[in-house]
Amino acid sequence: MMKKIVFLGCGSMGEAILGGMLAAGVSPQSVVVTVRRPERATELAARHGVTAMASNEEAAANVEAVEGASVVILAVKPVGVTAMCREVADALDSNAVVISVAAAVSLAQMEAALRPGQPVVRSMPNTPLKVGRGVVALSAGSSVDEHHLAAAHEVFDGSGVVLDVPEDQQNAVSAISGSGPAYAFYLAEAMAAAAEDFGLSPEVAQVLARETVAGAGIMLAEPGANAGELRRAVTSPKGTTEQAIASFDKDGLPGLIKAGTKAAAARAAQITEELSAAN
Ligand SMILES: NC(=O)c1ccc[n+]([C@@H]2O[C@H](COP(=O)([O-])OP(=O)(O)OC[C@H]3O[C@@H](n4cnc5c(N)ncnc54)[C@H](OP(=O)(O)O)[C@@H]3O)[C@@H](O)[C@H]2O)c1
Repeated sequence: MMKKIVFLGCGSMGEAILGGMLAAGVSPQSVVVTVRRPERATELAARHGVTAMASNEEAAANVEAVEGASVVILAVKPVGVTAMCREVADALDSNAVVISVAAAVSLAQMEAALRPGQPVVRSMPNTPLKVGRGVVALSAGSSVDEHHLAAAHEVFDGSGVVLDVPEDQQNAVSAISGSGPAYAFYLAEAMAAAAEDFGLSPEVAQVLARETVAGAGIMLAEPGANAGELRRAVTSPKGTTEQAIASFDKDGLPGLIKAGTKAAAARAAQITEELSAAN
C-alpha cells in the first residue's frame, strides 16, 4: 500500500517541498494537502494532481486529512503550529511522523501539543528547494526512530541536500541557510545599485548583477566546489578583484555578515519565547 503523505498548510514553502517530492517520483495520489482558502486548494489540486482540502470550507479538513497518514508535514506559519498540533493530535496514527518546517517552533513545544510518544522532526528548509537546490537541516524529537528519520529524509531528498543537526543549532541554521537566499539576493541588489552608480542603465545593471550571482551559484554547486578556492582563482595578485576584496575586508564586510546572522538567530530565539508566552 502507498504511504499517505499529508501537508497541513501548503503555501510557498509547502508547495516547494511538494514539488520536489513529486519530481523525485512520489505519486500525487498518495498526497493530501490542506489550506484555508478553497481557491488555493483548487489551484494546488489542478497544478499537482494531489487531493486538496480547504479548512475554510470544510472545518474538519485537517483532522480528516491526517487519518491513516504515515508522514505529516506541518507547513503553516510558526504562530499556527502548536494550534495545528492540538487540532490533529487525536486523529494521528501513533506511528505517524510529524515534520515541522516552521522556524523557531521547538520540538518540546510541538511534543507538548501532541499525544505523548508522537514522533516529531523539526526541520529548517530554504526556498532553493523550489529548484532542487535546497539545503535542509533536521533535528529528531525524543520519540523518533531510524524509520521515522529515514521518512523525513525522503521528504526532502528530491529537493536538495539533507543534514542532521542537534536542535540547539537550528537557530544558527535558520540564520545561515534559512535566511541565506535573501542574503544572496541582497548582494545582487547591492551590485546592481553599484552598477547604476557607474552610470549603467538599470536594465543592464540588473542583468549584470543577477547573472553574475546566479552564475557564481552554479559554479559553487559543482561537486567539490569551495568558495574560498573559487574566489582566489579569480583574484589575481595586483589585479582589480584583489582591490575590491581588500576594500571589503578593510571596511569589515565579513564582520557585518556575522553580525547580521547573529541578529537573525537572536530573533529566532525571541520568536520561540513569544510563541511560548502566547500558548
Ligand atoms: N518561506 C521561507 O523561506 C521559509 C524558510 C524556512 C522555513 N519556512 C517555514 O515554512 C512555514 C510556512 O511558510 P510559508 O512562507 O510557506 O507561509 P505561507 O505561504 O503563508 O503558507 C502557509 C500555508 O498555511 C495554510 N494555513 C494556514 N492556516 C491553516 C489552517 N488552519 N488549516 C489549513 N491550512 C492553513 C495557508 O493556507 P491559505 O493559502 O489558504 O491561506 C497556506 O497554505 C513557516 O512556518 C516558515 O517558518 C519558510
